[in-house]
Amino acid sequence: MPQDAIARIHAREVLDSRGNPTVEVRVQCAGGCCGRAIVPSGASTGKHEACELRDGDPKRYAGKGVQKAVAHVKETIAPALIGMPASDQSEIDRLMVELDGTPNKSRLGANALLGVSLACAHAAAAAQKLPLWHYLAGNREPSLPLPMVNLISGGLHAGRNLEFQDFLFLPVAARTYSEALEQAVAVYRSLGEVLRNHGFEGTLVGDEGGFGPRLENNEQAVEMILRALECAGLTPGKDAALAVDVASTHFYENGRYVLRDRAFAADDLTEMFHEWAEKYPIASIEDGMAEDDWSGWKLLTEKLGRRVQLIGDDLFATNPKRLARGCIEKTANSILIKLNQIGTLTETLVVIDQARAAGYRPVISARSGETEDATIADLAVATAAGQIKIGSIARSERLAKYNQLLRIEEHVSAFSRWQPVG
Ligand code: PGA
Ligand code: ZN
Repeated sequence: MPQDAIARIHAREVLDSRGNPTVEVRVQCAGGCCGRAIVPSGASTGKHEACELRDGDPKRYAGKGVQKAVAHVKETIAPALIGMPASDQSEIDRLMVELDGTPNKSRLGANALLGVSLACAHAAAAAQKLPLWHYLAGNREPSLPLPMVNLISGGLHAGRNLEFQDFLFLPVAARTYSEALEQAVAVYRSLGEVLRNHGFEGTLVGDEGGFGPRLENNEQAVEMILRALECAGLTPGKDAALAVDVASTHFYENGRYVLRDRAFAADDLTEMFHEWAEKYPIASIEDGMAEDDWSGWKLLTEKLGRRVQLIGDDLFATNPKRLARGCIEKTANSILIKLNQIGTLTETLVVIDQARAAGYRPVISARSGETEDATIADLAVATAAGQIKIGSIARSERLAKYNQLLRIEEHVSAFSRWQPVG
């Protein structure tokens, strides 16, 4: 038997950063090498994502157990994969998709498939004695990503204190990854102080580690961050830019975007983003329109797509068919990449290549429910994706990825500096 032939696949239920069960998979090869991966989980999930299989038994973890998905790994997937080379990623993933047999992986669960898919990649890298980023890069030139760092959380990540979900910082003048990270920490610290000085909560954090103050409105979040940038010695618009994840799917009701004080049609909301882009150094807007509001997306892209990075998260759901439609209809100019939205590593790599070929920027992203698993850090470097969105610089499930990038930086000198749109 070859050294990297899959000898054993084990799965178990572990907990994520919200204390919810999730799937961990361990793959062992004939030569003794192992790979392990833990699947993340979203809160503001889109309806076009692959199915995260939960037990639905109210007596365990309020129905959120994943024992069914774990059983599918052990009883259905493992027997089919034993003996295959762990490095045959595309065949492993193809076979699992076939075994599942549904369009959204609802029979076996995308959480079951992704755990196995990633654990195989880790095991294959270990068998080749390569770090994961090196193994995944293959012939590609690896590059450290620019981090897009969460500062203030709102929406479903912080008890709906604000409508918009994330207010983020882009260290656009940083020359290295570690310099970008150091700036992020400085800005985060000064934001805590700015919030406290203005009488707001500057300690409690949301699901991704961003501050979760009860501000008056979305605009006030931007104002607070601009102050924090200045306090940290950065010049907004020159060496610091802002990004927002509007996550607008989650306040879209009957064709209108419902904010606290008023409801917007897509063209009014576009106008509001346009005003923001004129007034503030906003370089990136994610999910400015809802997941199925293709005409709203078209409007937004026509108006701002030549100067602002417009990222489709719920819109594309890391799905090749949805991205293909976006390319034809010219909606957005960037795509958020979340492994568990599609469910296998191979399909994720295909979407990244598809995006690049169409001139869309891929942004590798964590979920709001995360763990110590740092696979996305290696993935971002291996694919030279350019940007990564992990969350804030607080909470260890976030730091697991930031720290992995620091380790990789000792071996990879290339860093993807910010490229303005247009
Ligand atoms: P989620 O949030 O993981 O809760 O979906 C992340 C995002 O919307 O980018
Ligand atoms: Zn998002």
